Amino acid sequence: MEAKRIASLFLLLLIGMQMRGSNALSMNYYGMNCPFVEMIVRNVVNQALQKDPTLAAGLLRLHFHDCFVQGCDASILLDATDGTSEKDSPANGSVRGYEVIDQIKQLLEARCPGTVSCADVVALAARDAVFWAGGPYYGIMTGRRDGTRSRIEDTRALPPPTLNTTDLIDVFVNKRGFSVPELVALSGGHTIGSARCQSLKNRLDNADPTAEPNFLQALSRTCSAGDKTTVPFDRTSTTFDNNYFRALQNSQGVLTSDQTLYNSPQTRMIVDAYAMNQAMFFYNFQQGMLKMGQLDLKEGNQGEIRLNCHKVN
Ligand code: HEM
Repeated sequence: MEAKRIASLFLLLLIGMQMRGSNALSMNYYGMNCPFVEMIVRNVVNQALQKDPTLAAGLLRLHFHDCFVQGCDASILLDATDGTSEKDSPANGSVRGYEVIDQIKQLLEARCPGTVSCADVVALAARDAVFWAGGPYYGIMTGRRDGTRSRIEDTRALPPPTLNTTDLIDVFVNKRGFSVPELVALSGGHTIGSARCQSLKNRLDNADPTAEPNFLQALSRTCSAGDKTTVPFDRTSTTFDNNYFRALQNSQGVLTSDQTLYNSPQTRMIVDAYAMNQAMFFYNFQQGMLKMGQLDLKEGNQGEIRLNCHKVN
């Protein structure tokens, strides 16, 4: 009897914490009021990726670009009528997967209206996309709140592809609190997906000496078709594996910010370790993603649960 009383008190406490809109994330945050959220997200993501496996990369990048600008608050999803929101920024020009998020949110609103934040949907979808592509599965906490601000100028926080290792360490380690191994593992997100030629133009124009000459020549040939032509990051660009790090060892990294990780003494040994040991890459990627998913969360009752991910309530 006493045990039952304690259990129900604990339950009330849990519900109370959620109702206050505490910024603290928790495992199974929607257990009471939207228990099928993870299943719904997973089903929609799996269906979408069966149709288009390249979308896994889009969903992962969407989460990264959300979290690095104003924290993980789905600000990247907001539309502006005058072309001044985050998604209008050139830095977000090729971000993909918005329609998958919309589809999930629509189902969730039908099942448990006004309950699940768009930011949580983005985080869960990225996690499921990584797993679908063959990467690690990690439990994530939920309870993020959606932001109400989305400004094109805030996307300055996104790292450009021309950064060298020192700059990357500044952005990820000094400014955001990641460890150097986490920075390298997160860059390993480029084990899936592709880049447009415009993102590696600097390397072609200057015949980048850090690129393997035949690889550079092949890139130049591909990119002669135009800036929007895409180049896969590694030879298995829909599979989440450690081939990205092997490509870096062979001087076949696509972006300056990729190849620099092998060419810099600060990170070279980490690249070698991940190229040799995929489990170590997966573990540090997981740790990095858990940290990324908790960047600059809204405090207390700040933010809202957006009903439509495209606009504030
Ligand atoms: C380290 C600093 C980073 C830089 C400078 C960077 C830059 C870029 C650039 C320029 C592209 C290609 C965009 C295009 O031309 O279309 C790209 C694609 C991508 N990025 Fe990053 N990125 C970084 C870190 C990350 C992180 C931390 C993740 C996730 C953990 C990530 C995931 C992706 C994915 C999956 C793609 C492929 C997207 C697709 O195929 O649609 N990136 N990134």
